[in-house]
Amino acid sequence: MSDDKPANDAVGKSVGAKLGFDVAKQWPARGTARSAKDRAVQALVAGHTLIVGQSRSGKTITARRIIEEIINWTQARVVILDPNADFRFLNEVDPNLDRKIPENEFFADRWSVLGKEIEIATPDGGAWGIKWGELSKREMAAFLGLTGTDDFGEYSHFDRHYKYQEKDNGFSTLDAFKSSKYFETRPSGEDEDLERYRLRLENVAQLGVWWKIGTDKDLDSLFEGTNRAVVVDLSKDDQQVRMITAARTLEALWRQGEKRRKAFLESGTGAWPGTLVVIDEGHVFAPPAPEGPQKRLVCERIQRFADQGKKLNLYLMVVTQQPGKLHRDVLSEFNNRIILRVNERRSLKVLEETYGGFRGRYDGALTFEQGEALVEGALLCDEDPPPAAPRGVQFEKSRSKEGGGTPKPDWALPRE
Ligand SMILES: Nc1ncnc2c1ncn2[C@@H]1O[C@H](COP(=O)(O)OP(=O)(O)OP(=O)(O)O)[C@@H](O)[C@H]1O
Ligand SMILES: [Mg+2]
Repeated sequence: MSDDKPANDAVGKSVGAKLGFDVAKQWPARGTARSAKDRAVQALVAGHTLIVGQSRSGKTITARRIIEEIINWTQARVVILDPNADFRFLNEVDPNLDRKIPENEFFADRWSVLGKEIEIATPDGGAWGIKWGELSKREMAAFLGLTGTDDFGEYSHFDRHYKYQEKDNGFSTLDAFKSSKYFETRPSGEDEDLERYRLRLENVAQLGVWWKIGTDKDLDSLFEGTNRAVVVDLSKDDQQVRMITAARTLEALWRQGEKRRKAFLESGTGAWPGTLVVIDEGHVFAPPAPEGPQKRLVCERIQRFADQGKKLNLYLMVVTQQPGKLHRDVLSEFNNRIILRVNERRSLKVLEETYGGFRGRYDGALTFEQGEALVEGALLCDEDPPPAAPRGVQFEKSRSKEGGGTPKPDWALPRE
């Protein structure tokens, strides 16, 4: 028997007969005790979750549905790395939502309040851009695409330039950095490495990632506010913009996590709500062998989140079409797994090999419809004892407005 009780929400309406956080039919388990439900929700929000499925199996919608419930019912903050602009209207209610259904009506009311606490950060918005002066030397080098080995001559210039600037004016903007007096100190004459280095600075300065004077907030300060969620729009069709912005987002969250941990340890009291970082198309950011310094930095930071994030109250939800295209060290850290429809056995084999358990237990995923999934790992702690086999569930469609970063196939319908 359920011990769910009617609840009053933040906007003062009763949710009806049961307390929320119903992302899917059969999860948390039907009729489960409130304590078991709480345990399961806690495992989802304060854990690392993998969402796998073929294209259009409903991965992004599932992640969005979970995010809606987290924002609605828990204190966690959600930060979304959004490469397809699928979340750009997360703060709005789906205009086609059937409001005759009480749960939908309740959601719409509540979202009209909570939506104001969701920040959507886009390159053209009032909150965007990285401050060059805030970066570490390592970040500067990586963002410039320098490794220090195969571009030794250029890296040496960067190194000397950095030291010169450190002694002289310090670091402010990239524009100030690239017009530094350092270049006047170089002996005149042909120095190809110096010219290459200058060109590199020019090219990186052209990317739309740097904070501009007149913009209200930079990327770092977005995470200092009290937002319930921040969507970082990475849909700009430029790999470097994506990687630099993702790397800095992860670094800003990490530094903030360290500060919060220190404050928590010093005070010994006080709430310290966690942050769930959702990475859609995770294989783009954490592939098995990332190429180039920018991608390597992002991948390293995701690895750091996966293996040490929990102590800073930082959790991951990674969405991908193929688990085999994710870095092994990231893949092995997911204590929660959600497997939607998969149309090839290779991915199921990768999951079996990574997480152990009996063979063939994911085979049902080969026949699923949209939103149908297997859940396993810590997500099954709502059953006592947790079962060895994954549980089949049906995720509900999300209720906020879809971003539409992916084209709908309506155009392929026969004409009237
Ligand atoms: N549970 C669901 N119920 C009803 N419709 C759904 C459900 N999940 C997804 N859909 C529909 O299917 C479409 C594709 O879903 P979604 O974008 O989540 O797929 P995806 O797995 O993320 O695909 P891709 O790999 O291309 O990003 C959505 O636009 C949505 O309208
Ligand atoms: Mg998707």
